Amino acid sequence: MEKNELLDIMLERRSIREYTGEPIPMEKLNAVIEAGLSAPSSRGRRPWELIVIRDRQTLIALSGSRMGSARMLAGADAAIVVLGDEDLSDVWVEDCSIVMAHMHLMADSLGLGSCWIQGRNRDARPGQLTTENYIRSFLKFPSNYRLLAMLSLGIPAVQPDARQVEDLPFDKVHINRF
Ligand SMILES: Cc1cc2nc3c(=O)[nH]c(=O)nc-3n(C[C@H](O)[C@H](O)[C@H](O)COP(=O)(O)O)c2cc1C
Repeated sequence: MEKNELLDIMLERRSIREYTGEPIPMEKLNAVIEAGLSAPSSRGRRPWELIVIRDRQTLIALSGSRMGSARMLAGADAAIVVLGDEDLSDVWVEDCSIVMAHMHLMADSLGLGSCWIQGRNRDARPGQLTTENYIRSFLKFPSNYRLLAMLSLGIPAVQPDARQVEDLPFDKVHINRF
């Protein structure tokens, strides 16, 4: 295929969990938010809400929302928490996932490091406290708003290799039948 800028960005996108500590320029953070808000949604209902976190103490608190898997938030410059209104849409999970994917890709294309941190179906303390309720205790969102995930954001301190088209798992593609 001929060169395509979007595919190049998709191949370069990696999860970045280490950040330099420098602040993200406001215009880049705004572009990430705009990418999220431009996501399609079922029936155009936009059941999502985004909570942008820049407060250091809150980032540190959120880093404890998963056993280890959210620790990069303590060193992040920002996080975007994505919530879905389950009363507004029965496919809020899909809608919120597209918002996350848009923001993650946009962050990468702007030279920002970001990582998807799973919230839904995860625990802060297994068997005792869900990640959702842990985060709700800090961010105070009502019970019909469900946690999908968080995107950590910062200036990257590492540069993992891009993927190569030839290495993509083409064996997962089936033509006409499984
Ligand atoms: C639905 C989903 C949940 C994820 N949850 C986490 C997570 O909780 N913590 C984390 O560090 N990375 C998480 N990731 C990032 C994946 O580990 C990462 O995308 C995968 O290892 C491939 O690496 P790459 O993103 O650099 O291509 C998640 C990614 C997705 C799509």
